[in-house]
This record gives sequence, C-alpha cells and structure tokens, in this order.
Amino acid sequence: MRNPQVLIVDDSKTIRSVICSQLKRHSIDVTEAVDGLEGLALTRENHYDLVITDITMPGINGYQLCSEIKNNPDTQSTPVIILSSNEKNEHIEKGFEVGAAAYVTKNNARQELIPYIQEILNRSKILRDRLVLVVDDSKYILKIVDAGLSAAGFKVVTASNGAEAFEIVSQVAPDLILSDICMPVMDGIEFCEKVQNHPDLSHIPFVIMSSGSDRRTMRELLHKGAAAFLVKPFNIDQLVITAEKLLSDHFRILLQQRELLKKERTLLMGSITSLVQALEARDSYTRGHSDTVSFLSVKTAEKLRLPEKDVERIEFAAKLHDLGKIGIRDDILLKNGPLSEQEFSVIKKHPILGAEILKPIPSMEDIIPAVLHHHEKMNGSGYPHGLTTTEIPLWARIISVSDVYDALTTDRPYKKAFTHKAAMEFIEDKADNELCPECTRAFQAVMSDFQPETVKRISMAAVCPGRKLPTLSPC
Ligand SMILES: [Fe+2]
Repeated sequence: MRNPQVLIVDDSKTIRSVICSQLKRHSIDVTEAVDGLEGLALTRENHYDLVITDITMPGINGYQLCSEIKNNPDTQSTPVIILSSNEKNEHIEKGFEVGAAAYVTKNNARQELIPYIQEILNRSKILRDRLVLVVDDSKYILKIVDAGLSAAGFKVVTASNGAEAFEIVSQVAPDLILSDICMPVMDGIEFCEKVQNHPDLSHIPFVIMSSGSDRRTMRELLHKGAAAFLVKPFNIDQLVITAEKLLSDHFRILLQQRELLKKERTLLMGSITSLVQALEARDSYTRGHSDTVSFLSVKTAEKLRLPEKDVERIEFAAKLHDLGKIGIRDDILLKNGPLSEQEFSVIKKHPILGAEILKPIPSMEDIIPAVLHHHEKMNGSGYPHGLTTTEIPLWARIISVSDVYDALTTDRPYKKAFTHKAAMEFIEDKADNELCPECTRAFQAVMSDFQPETVKRISMAAVCPGRKLPTLSPC
C-alpha cells in the first residue's frame, strides 16, 4: 500500500523541515514548495492526498492557493490545512471560507497538526471513489448538492426523477442515494420501495431530502428502510457530515459482516466436505460420486448459460445432494444386492434427511430445494413429493441428469456398470418422460464437447474406487 502523499507550501525552510521530519516519522511522503505559485503548479501536475500551506508567502498567499485548489475540478477534492501564526478569528473564518479542511496555528502545530492530518487522511480514504446518487427534479438543488459533495471528495451522479435514478442504480450501484420525495414520472416513495425491495440494492443507504411539510412521508420511508432524512433547506456541511457518517459506519459494519460471512462459509465448507467424505468412505462403490455429479452439473449449468452466481451454488448443491444418506442404516445403504420395497422406502428418505440437515444453516437456504428434489421425475413418478415438470426446481433437474449418468456408469455388486454409450442411450430414452429435456440436451452437448479420451476417463473414474474429479486423472 502506498504512503500518503502530502505537499507542504511554506516560504520558511525551517518550518518546512520541522513538519517534514514530523510527517516522515508517520510514514508520510512529503513534497516541499517554497511559495504559493510553486505549490499551485505542483498540485496541477501531481495528485496529493493533502496540502498544508502557510498564509503569508511571496506570489500568491495561502488563501488564494486554497481557493485555486478548490475551484479546480481536478483538485477540488484535495483537502487543505492552513498553517498560520495568525490566531485572529477573522483569519480562521477566511480559511474556512476558501474551503480549508482545518486551520492550525503554528503555536499549536506540535500537538495538533499530526492528529488533524491523520483525521483528514482517514476521512478522505473513506470518501475516495465513493459514488453518491442525487435525485431531485430541481436543477438548482442538483447543482448545489453536486458541487458540495464533489468538493468534499465524493463522486456524484445525478437524476431528475425516480425512474431515471432506478435505471442508473441498476447499472452502477452507488454507495449512497440522496433522493427528493415529490418528483414527476416516479416519486421518491416508489423509488425508495423499489431499491429496498431489490436484493442486490437494499444495502445502499437511502437518504430522503424534502421540505418540513413532508415529515409524515419521511417517517413512513424511515420505516420502509430509508437510513436518514434531511429537511430542506439544509446546509452543505450538514449534508456532508450525514453522508460521511452513513458511509463510514455503514462501510465498517458491511466489512465486518462480509468477514463473518466469509469465515462462516469456510468453516461450513470444511465441515460439510468432511461429512460428505465420511459418507462416501462408508461405501467404496459411491466414493467420488458427489465430485463427479458436481463436475458434470457445473458443465451442464454453464451450457444452459446460467449466471455465474447460480453455477457456483449448483456446484455446492451437487456436492451435497446425497448428504441425507448419512442417516441411512449401513445394512440398507451398503446391502450387497437388490433392495426390498421396504428397504427402498428407507433409501427414499435421503433427500428429506439431507434437507433437514441443511435447514438450520441460513447460508444453505438456496440449495435446499436442489437437495430435496434431485430424485423427482418429470412425469411425477419421482420422490419425495412426486413433483412434475417445472414444479421441480431447475437446479434439481440439472443435478438429476448427471446423477443418473454417474449411477449408471458405476459398478455395483449387484449390477455391472453401463458403458458411456449405453448410459447416454438410456438418458436419451428418459428425456422428457423422466428427465428434463432441456437439461438432457445441455448434458448431451457437454458430453459431445469432451474428447473421447476425456469421456473414457470420466467413465473410468466412475467405476474406480477412490476416483477424483474434476481433475479426471486416470485411476
Ligand atoms: Fe440421491
């Protein structure tokens, strides 16, 4: 990570070198300018995270330098600290008028400068690249808010009504939304509801800005998920503080949640993988079955052009599709021969058992239907619920084809493994009646894409205990 870049503008060599050595001790890279003009030229050529400037200097003074930096769209987000020996209120006020982020007197610099610098650098790190969407039908308000937020370091995009804003939000998710209520085409209420009801957008903090007479509507919107409201007319400082607060708190919480989720997923994957390995270790004939089914289901899902997010979850669901077999007694699961009707009815419980194992885990919610229904058939003759056609979830229909292929091409004590050709003929025969025709076509296309050698290795892997897929290494 690069060090923060700070520009010091002061005509006193002594002051420059004192600040310089102080900043270097905090791993800050410093550039020096001997007067305002040199400082201005440097800000136009390079990017600085912060400018510290004296006031009284030859050429242009510190106020003029600050004002030039703030009036240039390329540098307006660079924070400026004014460092002066002048402690009069009117000088301090003038500093803020030209857009300085802090005013530090040279007498207090030893104690105050470093904490100010750290605070400003932290704040601009939070704001850098944060996109705010401002929605208002008043061009005047859009202009003022845009200018205020841009000057504070935000990136801003604007829209004049809810419909236009929703189109923008669907393309580039902003980090924060500020919206008026009364607007033509789509008002702020409908826009807020659309954002809050969208699973990929509901996490974006939504701030309502409206006049005092809309207080009741604003309160309703707060109930519906809006994060805050600003009563018009508000001043820009108030707006910037609200935006900073929402983004910094929000950012921190989101990061924490993401970290927790990542940890939970890793732990969960670890324990479930061990569970599946333990299940398959009981039966050498089905060892590697979940890996083969998972590999082929992923290829089929990709062939069906499903979104990447779905393909990832299908991979996971296919790995766990037979998880419920962990609850089936050994004398039935490992029986060396055909099953009696009663024994088969016990085996048929495994999709329900699998779904029950996964039910208490919130992050598994989306894959439960695939596990529960992977033995359903298109004509309703499957189990556990006898669902038909599109009642069967798509992920379950995809897994089902690969499951049938792998079961057929696996040697069992009571049956010889089918050849690849015979298994494909069986699948073709069952398309429509038992297997989903669309998924079968995709599966057939996957198989025809493979080189004959690869197909042979899939089949070989299927009949070899201890097989490993998707690497497809010969066993
Ligand atoms: Fe199964």
